[in-house]
Amino acid sequence: MSCIRSEIIGWGHYLPKKVLTNDDLSKMVDTNDEWISTRTGIKSRHISEGETTADMSIKAADAALKQAELTIKDIDVIIVGTLTPDNTTPATAAKIGGIMGVNPGTPTFDIAAACSGFVYALTMADNMIRLGQVKTALVIGAETLSKIVDWTDRNTCVLFGDGAGAVVLKAREGEGTSADTGILATKLYSDGTQYNNLYVSGGVSTTATAGFVVMNGKEVFKFAVGSLSEAAENVMNQCGVNAEQIDWLLPHQANIRIIEGVGHKLGLPDEKVIVTVDHHGNTSAASIPLALSESLEAGKIKKGDLVVLSAMGAGFTWGGVLVRI
Ligand code: UT7
Repeated sequence: MSCIRSEIIGWGHYLPKKVLTNDDLSKMVDTNDEWISTRTGIKSRHISEGETTADMSIKAADAALKQAELTIKDIDVIIVGTLTPDNTTPATAAKIGGIMGVNPGTPTFDIAAACSGFVYALTMADNMIRLGQVKTALVIGAETLSKIVDWTDRNTCVLFGDGAGAVVLKAREGEGTSADTGILATKLYSDGTQYNNLYVSGGVSTTATAGFVVMNGKEVFKFAVGSLSEAAENVMNQCGVNAEQIDWLLPHQANIRIIEGVGHKLGLPDEKVIVTVDHHGNTSAASIPLALSESLEAGKIKKGDLVVLSAMGAGFTWGGVLVRI
């Protein structure tokens, strides 16, 4: 039965110039390349020097619009997944729309779902497109995590990085089968009882400060493998797709051991798993669109490929998207 699909017609990403290596970090806190590499798979990460989440988002969005051969005037909604907005309010999406010159009246909003922010944002955009409310959407995941990292805490400061990724979605008629291009299935979850295992220690109504990332690494790790696998399996099952039919697993990039654990749980060979955590670190809501855009640009992920996106983060939140490029 024919249906409306949200097709990814453009993608782009932006990483700030400054690269912070594990050796650089070893001069700042009591750590070393060997510990960081073996425990996390991270070798380096990009750090913003004055560029805000909106600044980086606009660069990623410009690239995505160029790829889509559209302008900002063609965009019907802007949704940004971020936990590091430029201001408490308005939404960073509104600021981005204002600077880029979106048509007046176009809806813009941010999603607060931490590392699952992009998967949540993509799902909301897909829902709006399938309902016929919009025909095009600019969906961004962007973070300036360096601003909320405690650079004296070796448990957390070695993990995170900055950056932005964006996609342009467009409504397209599909056949209603898993052979369609575009988003084929989505699934979102949360469990607020896990609030204390991963959070930022500030907030408007509590401390009136931004705060710093606090994490119970072991608990997050345990939950991450199960939840990332659960979300991926759910969207695959919705479409009756098995592991052999998947071209790429693109999980949230937090830790190579988590990424490999999810791949093995799903029965996917390492060659089918996208890894960028080595040179991006954990960029929260930016991690999936950064990895997606980089892999598409490099020709690694190709037109027609079936890709399962899976994210997990603070809340806890988690979710999956099955998409044919
Ligand atoms: O994006 C949201 C999702 N976030 C995640 O998925 C992160 C999930 N968690 C993890 O990736 C891992 O738990 C970490 C990488 C954060 C930690 O790895 P771990 O294998 O769980 O290490 P640990 O916390 O058990 O720490 C082991 C030791 C400790 O020393 P003692 O107490 O055993 O003497 C730490 O103090 O390693 C020490 N340690 C460090 N040593 C050198 C912690 N951080 C560092 C460091 N350098 N940077």
